[in-house]
Amino acid sequence: MSEQAKLTLGAKALEMPVMDGSIGPQVIDIRKMYAQTGAFTFDPGFTSTASCLSAITYIDGDEGVLLHRGYPIQQLAEHSSFPEVAYLLTEGELPTKEELDTFVYTITRHTMVHEQLMQFFRGFRRDAHPMAIMCGVVGALSAFYHDSTDIDDPKQRMIASHRLIAKMPTIAAMAYKYSVGQPFVYPDNSLSYTGNFLRMTFAVPAEPYIVNPVVERALDRIFILHADHEQNASTSTVRLAGSSGANPFACIAAGIACLWGPAHGGANEAALNMLREIGRPERIPEYIARAKDKDDPFRLMGFGHRVYKNYDPRATVMQQTVRELFAELKVSDPIFEVALQLEAMALNDPYFIEKKLFPNVDFYSGIILSAIGFPTSMFTALFALARTVGWVAQWNEMIGDPEQKIGRPRQLYTGAPQRDYVPISKR
Ligand code: ACO
Repeated sequence: MSEQAKLTLGAKALEMPVMDGSIGPQVIDIRKMYAQTGAFTFDPGFTSTASCLSAITYIDGDEGVLLHRGYPIQQLAEHSSFPEVAYLLTEGELPTKEELDTFVYTITRHTMVHEQLMQFFRGFRRDAHPMAIMCGVVGALSAFYHDSTDIDDPKQRMIASHRLIAKMPTIAAMAYKYSVGQPFVYPDNSLSYTGNFLRMTFAVPAEPYIVNPVVERALDRIFILHADHEQNASTSTVRLAGSSGANPFACIAAGIACLWGPAHGGANEAALNMLREIGRPERIPEYIARAKDKDDPFRLMGFGHRVYKNYDPRATVMQQTVRELFAELKVSDPIFEVALQLEAMALNDPYFIEKKLFPNVDFYSGIILSAIGFPTSMFTALFALARTVGWVAQWNEMIGDPEQKIGRPRQLYTGAPQRDYVPISKR
């Protein structure tokens, strides 16, 4: 018999099965708790709650480990490509050469968006934030691609997944082009996924655009590092939206909306803005003091993580990528020096040591994206582009899970008990 956890509540005793994953902490199955004890569990922010079974991504936050389908993120960042990681996450195994070629061919054939979608862009103000545009346009895809919204049809689910992965770069690049008043650039299917995105973002019709392979590789690596991160806020949002049977485009739009927040995907934009505001190494102590001050809401952006209580392994790769990119392009940015010194100072400070606050993926990503030429407002849109792969993989896994139910958390009610309506003249 499997291990049991025991709970007593007054006179009631409950035995709950303990479940084992392939690695990682055990999970106590509390599904019968309410029926047998009449009590719920209380876990705001889900700090102790596993919401699903998943075989996609594993994180050991204490050790700073991140595995996709078992493969360490460092190995994928060094040896793989974003399309290959997309295949791995969505299909479960690394592809053979033939499988990868077929996958890339399929994705490439879906890169264009419906011509009428262009009109949709024109309804936005020119100064609209790219994430505002992304929420709207990705949600609107369900109005353009009706033929892939039946979630009970595996073929339609597959086509919707391919469409989302393929069209996100086109939509993100269009959001950028619209904000700078330049014409949209159609996809060029002779280029790689990332090379095509660079061209759609930075090319203009007046002159040829040659993809810089160093930049292409750095951005591809950033996409790999952002591809999935198990049940984070935006992924849980996608799963929750999907649990009601909503179509995949609507679910991914919900994920984009959640990702936008500064405590989640918006932190990369906020981190670079913060580094620029600090500006010089001499000012770092002032900002560290502010981050430690309980009366000041300021936090070091790009620092701390709900799961990692150690160095975020993605931040290590990201820092290395900044060095490589700067060396190969023969450029530098004084902000990088500020970031390195801020990190060193924070990691030696008892406040950050005690609270186990380390740089996360967002701390260095903005420096690379800025060096490539992206404005800060595009940073979270790039994150959304890459994370779409993870969202799609997690959404498909959820739909295929026989135990899947509509997500419906409960609450501890703290409002007024039942009382009688009082006519307005008597209040
Ligand atoms: N700077 C200063 N203090 C911090 C920071 C920070 N960046 N992060 C956490 N703390 C402190 C909190 O004040 C809190 O202190 P207390 O215990 O004295 O109250 C303690 O550390 C724990 O913080 P919580 O907010 O309770 O931790 P939680 O796990 O809920 O939050 C989060 C994680 C949201 C990422 C937080 O660390 C944060 O706001 N960081 C800055 C934003 C950021 O970089 N987000 C990106 C996350 S990665 C991603 O989404 C890709």
